[in-house]
Amino acid sequence: EKGGYDHFMLKEIYEQPLAIKDTYRGRLLVNEAIIKLSGVEDNMKRFLNADRIIIVACGTSWHAGLVAEYIFEDLARIPVEVEYASEFRYRNPVITEKDVVIAISQSGETADTLAAIKLAKSKGAFVFGVCNVVGSSIARETDAGAYTHAGPEIGVASTKAFTTQITILTLIALRLARAKGTMSSSDYRRQLQELELIPEKVTEALKADKHIQAIAETYKDSRNMLYLGRGYNFPVALEGALKLKEISYIHAEGYPAAEMKHGPIALIDENMPVIVIATKKGHYEKVVSNIQEIKARKGKIIGIVTQGDVSVRELADHVIEIPETLENLSPLLTTIPLQLLSYHIAVMLGKNVDQPRNLAKSVTVE
Ligand code: M6R
Repeated sequence: EKGGYDHFMLKEIYEQPLAIKDTYRGRLLVNEAIIKLSGVEDNMKRFLNADRIIIVACGTSWHAGLVAEYIFEDLARIPVEVEYASEFRYRNPVITEKDVVIAISQSGETADTLAAIKLAKSKGAFVFGVCNVVGSSIARETDAGAYTHAGPEIGVASTKAFTTQITILTLIALRLARAKGTMSSSDYRRQLQELELIPEKVTEALKADKHIQAIAETYKDSRNMLYLGRGYNFPVALEGALKLKEISYIHAEGYPAAEMKHGPIALIDENMPVIVIATKKGHYEKVVSNIQEIKARKGKIIGIVTQGDVSVRELADHVIEIPETLENLSPLLTTIPLQLLSYHIAVMLGKNVDQPRNLAKSVTVE
């Protein structure tokens, strides 16, 4: 059932090219330059009349929501707030009938997310679900939605759910961008073409596996790790750190790269590995100067870079290359090496990768 892989997590990491394709299949029509999502189409007025979108989720799904915040604001010019479902529901939040709430959940059973949905509905908001499990509680409770079609995710550490959530949220944002006229038709076409190429670029990114395994061997005994990214890749840094924490039990933190100088830089010494997402588009020069700051303090640098990168390679202790893509699609690729790095470290430390201690696949208690 693990399809020849040692763990479900590894199988699911490798399933991502297909899972992403399954998620956009029949929805992304590149030749016609159309995105078809009935849940969005049927409720277009609600989306277009919304003053803002509020995203509620937990854990990895919350990280997908953060990526979506950048995507929706950048492409569709709709203000977005991203909330931990558990905080949102107890905060007496201001919600009106004009709000659109997007709830993201792989399992569709997360208690806090479900409660946040019920609260939003009771205030008259329109609630749209992004779930993986068909017929789940959240899928049933929401007014409309779109499934991710990632297939069953068994490993407790979420992998393909994350990348397929970003895929579907990108489709929604692009559809709304077209409807709102915030994007030229040539940019829109370009987006569709590039999104269609993502599965093969994920396959390409997976080829770094052996190289990542060697990096894992070097750092597996670290007590702490820091993950840095900016813009679209700041949430990816958070997700990379969560992945390491939950399966290897190594303490890790994700930060926006520029925030480092406001505190975390004090932690950096020769024993601190710092994983820096430094792809070509998106604040590249700024990230390079952040890398210089780490190097000056003798931190160990693992750079996630665009193929052919020169500047980061000169400074970093290791680089892991990913193919080039549009900036807003880069999280779909930068995530891959971080998943593999956590996986290999956890395996080397002899941890229970698929069922880490203290964790369950779906958190049905608040
Ligand atoms: O099923 P959900 O997407 O609602 O689950 C949310 C979180 O519990 C989940 O993403 C959790 O953080 C994962 N174990 C992360 O890998």
